Amino acid sequence: MLHKKLKPFPQDFLWGASTSAYQVEGANLIDGKGPSCQDIKEIPEGTSDLTVCADHYHRYQEDIALMAEMGFKVYRFSISWTRLIPEGTGEVNPKGIEFYNNIIDECIKHDIIPLVTMFHFDMPAALDARGSWGNPESVDWFLNFAKVMYENYGDRVKYWLTINEQNMLTLVGPVIGTLHLPEGCTNELREIYQQNHHMLVAQAKAMALCHEMLPEAKIGPAPNISLVYPASCKPEDNLAAQNYNAVRNWLYLDMAVYGVYNNLVWAWLEENDATPTFAPGDEEALKNGRADFIGFNYYNTATCEASEGDEEMRSDADQQTARGESGMFKGYRNPHLPTTEFGWEIDPMGFRATIREMYSRYRLPMIVTENGLGAYDKLTEDGKIHDQYRINYLRTHIEQIQLAISDGAEMMGYCPWSAIDLISTHEGMVKRYGFIYVDRDEFDLKTLNRYRKDSFYWYKKVISTNGDDLTD
Ligand code: BG6
Repeated sequence: MLHKKLKPFPQDFLWGASTSAYQVEGANLIDGKGPSCQDIKEIPEGTSDLTVCADHYHRYQEDIALMAEMGFKVYRFSISWTRLIPEGTGEVNPKGIEFYNNIIDECIKHDIIPLVTMFHFDMPAALDARGSWGNPESVDWFLNFAKVMYENYGDRVKYWLTINEQNMLTLVGPVIGTLHLPEGCTNELREIYQQNHHMLVAQAKAMALCHEMLPEAKIGPAPNISLVYPASCKPEDNLAAQNYNAVRNWLYLDMAVYGVYNNLVWAWLEENDATPTFAPGDEEALKNGRADFIGFNYYNTATCEASEGDEEMRSDADQQTARGESGMFKGYRNPHLPTTEFGWEIDPMGFRATIREMYSRYRLPMIVTENGLGAYDKLTEDGKIHDQYRINYLRTHIEQIQLAISDGAEMMGYCPWSAIDLISTHEGMVKRYGFIYVDRDEFDLKTLNRYRKDSFYWYKKVISTNGDDLTD
């Protein structure tokens, strides 16, 4: 659709950016914090461990002041389960409660709205040892954690996100360091989708509890949504794209919004003897969990072709590279899209297409909870970081949000990844995303001083003009 005149960003549009606890905080076993699955995983070769990260734990005041300087309206961060409850259940850690009280108060002091992710890839190690999300008790563990957060922070936190990228935990858990398979597991697909089911029920119950305990607050999911294109106009490829769209995207949003399993996914699970077992009350619980808005991460689209059912699927897939499922779809490299230095395709127009499709399916306000470019930034001798490539990436994506708004979609805000440099899920510290540069290398912690990148000054202007001026 060509627009003669674009609609402006809403006056109360929430400009900000995101981080996650295990990637930014460091201090991973300090002040009573228990280990999470991230602390006990095998660190990918050549990448840093999580002991220091960006040292946000000790420098959050400086970091939030820099966010305020950029004009942030919102800061999306996650709460580490094991900082609050070191063993995952039982004793609460007062120092952990205090740390997030400080973060929230610091945000409010600067007129920044805290947007809290309840779970970002960091299952307590003690609960991992008890089966992680594969244990039906995980629903209650998570609900208890949710209750502790609502009780302690609900007076000030009005926006909550449940589980970050549940779809990626399910599709590429080993890459993120979260997949827990019980010994002797004979049907991996069933096990994984049983874990997924527990997460869905946990999310639904946490949303219902939020509405009960904090009637003023709003809560939504935060999956990673990438519209899937067919590799060609062959009808078979189109069906494959529908299949992958269902498995990757709609399963999670159909559940968060309508409380039902996507029918294509269910049929595929049935076909593979992998449908999850429902505990008594699950069906009702899923129906009762109601999202008030949709948070979603977008990095690029996906493309796939038909699968004949007997081919080898690639084994190097991560969040943004489609692998394939025999007989359902097969990942395909889109030849029309450039890629980042780390091989992820770049598709701003696909952002608009994704937003349009989501809005026509779900009709809920949406906030972008991640979007961004990972790159090898360089600090110059005079303390500058010339990240024009990041500005280009962000600008072309923000333009597409405005086009999507002009198409009639309801957008609440934009929180790119990431507010500050932090450790990537599996590609270390050198894959930087932030507006704020952190002076450290993969293994050399250097000064940990903060520097404003060129994108910092650019984003500040974008925010101050409410998206009117996207020029350099
Ligand atoms: C998302 C995650 O998948 O993408 C983040 O929610 C992650 O935790 C981000 O860091 C970028 O991915 P990566 O693999 O480059 O760190």
